[in-house]
Amino acid sequence: MSERTLVLIKPDGVARGLIGDVIARVERKGLKVVAMDLRTLDADTAKAHYAEHSERPFFGELVEFITSGPLVALVLEGPRAIEAFRSLAGLTDPVKSAPGTIRGDHALEIGENVVHGSDSPESAAREIKIFFPDRF
Ligand code: TYD
Ligand code: MG
Repeated sequence: MSERTLVLIKPDGVARGLIGDVIARVERKGLKVVAMDLRTLDADTAKAHYAEHSERPFFGELVEFITSGPLVALVLEGPRAIEAFRSLAGLTDPVKSAPGTIRGDHALEIGENVVHGSDSPESAAREIKIFFPDRF
């Protein structure tokens, strides 16, 4: 049984030249890239994507960061794709993420942690619709 997840290579990842690294890890794992787009988010799209965090103290900085430059949005497909990508990404705090994970290998700050991955089937469906409406 296959599922889909929405992944972002965030502006820090794109600026640092990590698009290829992230996609290589995804493909090595066996997840399939079924949609991909390089774009800069407007504030409304960013707020919609991170709506669950709208009351958190870091929300303003989060929206500012995610709109600060081009990002790569991807839809990945495969068995347990949501959990599989979260496992590749590591923990939210890159310092607590194991080496060998994307965040564990590439980041030090929670606010600039290279990638996003949907955290549940409901989130994945909602986020895929934001980034790729009418596509799936
Ligand atoms: P969250 O959904 O909790 O983490 P994840 O990306 O692992 O699903 O938070 C979304 C993003 O918000 C997170 O990747 C980085 C940012 N963030 C902060 O800047 N400060 C924080 O204290 C938290 C929890 C998240
Ligand atoms: Mg999250």
